Amino acid sequence: MSTAALTLLTGPWAARAVTAAVRLGVFDELAAGPATPDELATRLGLHRPGLERLLRLLTGFGLLRTDPAGHALTEDGAPLTSGHPRSVRLLAEFYEEDHLRAAWDDLEAGLRTGDTPFAVAHGRPVFEHLAGAPEQAARYTAAMAAGSRFGDRLPAAVDLSAARCVVDVGGGDGGVLAALLTACPQLSGVLLDRPEVAGRAGAALRGAGVADRVQIVGADFFEAGAVPQGADVYLLSRILHNWSDDRCRALLNALRVAAGPGGRVLVVERMVRSEATDGPDGLLPLLFDLHMLVMTQGRERTEDEYAALLAGCGFVAAPAVALPLGFSVVTGTPAGGGVR
Ligand SMILES: C[S@@+](CC[C@H](N)C(=O)[O-])C[C@H]1O[C@@H](n2cnc3c(N)ncnc32)[C@H](O)[C@@H]1O
Repeated sequence: MSTAALTLLTGPWAARAVTAAVRLGVFDELAAGPATPDELATRLGLHRPGLERLLRLLTGFGLLRTDPAGHALTEDGAPLTSGHPRSVRLLAEFYEEDHLRAAWDDLEAGLRTGDTPFAVAHGRPVFEHLAGAPEQAARYTAAMAAGSRFGDRLPAAVDLSAARCVVDVGGGDGGVLAALLTACPQLSGVLLDRPEVAGRAGAALRGAGVADRVQIVGADFFEAGAVPQGADVYLLSRILHNWSDDRCRALLNALRVAAGPGGRVLVVERMVRSEATDGPDGLLPLLFDLHMLVMTQGRERTEDEYAALLAGCGFVAAPAVALPLGFSVVTGTPAGGGVR
């Protein structure tokens, strides 16, 4: 008999074990070099027999490997360290947060009624909830930034050599924009996000030394006139997946007006595969799709679905180009327009 069902049912234990190792500092300690269970137990103040069993499981997951000097990080384990350039450490902690767990606890209620589980659990939609919970909101924004370390790869995926101004629509902490502006010295940028998020966005931009090329705008991007006009590029990084088709069309139509005939939109999302939905590459977008169902009115979509949304709003979609972390970017150019 296959053990597939049992492996799935014990999935939460796997996540808990990885998060415990992250919180206890196991991955960070191994970033300095391989270590034996004795060395790790001493340095981290842990109970050796239990640690040894945890290390064995993490090795089974492929996050660690055995080494003559003890245990060592693998390529898959390295992003769980704090200092990795594409570190997902903050996501490990974020996914364990009580307000997320409470939302997932209402998945069944949402599947019965069609209500959004997050709103069932917390009484209002996620971004309204975060507006009233500044500490949670700061952790949300930091975790989102940890999951979107691909800004430096955008110029290789999309020709931005002639572009001069980019608007990062829903740009969060500015990490994607900072990486993009670092990679493209000719670009200046506008970071647009909700006021409570935009107000905290300066640090990543200052840290990257690009703050003098960025204007920060705190506004609701659905409000008439909120999106700055006349930019060459409008970046929608993990924005459309938060919204229903109707809301996506409202935003894309506003961008079509703001962009004018020479601008374009870049849609970055983890796209559902039309074929081969099994295996990690196929399953991850489906897991995030259910997460979107739990958290928002949105969904993960296929490349064709994004192309159709863009076409309905006057953009022609180019084929998707792959980015790190399983993301892809689709460029939408105005139908009948010339592109800067
Ligand atoms: C999933 S995060 C993506 C952040 C960033 N673009 C990235 O890829 O890391 C969604 C962002 O949309 C912002 N957002 C949600 N609703 C918004 C609205 N109505 N107006 C402006 N920003 C909004 C959130 O504050 C959040 O920063």
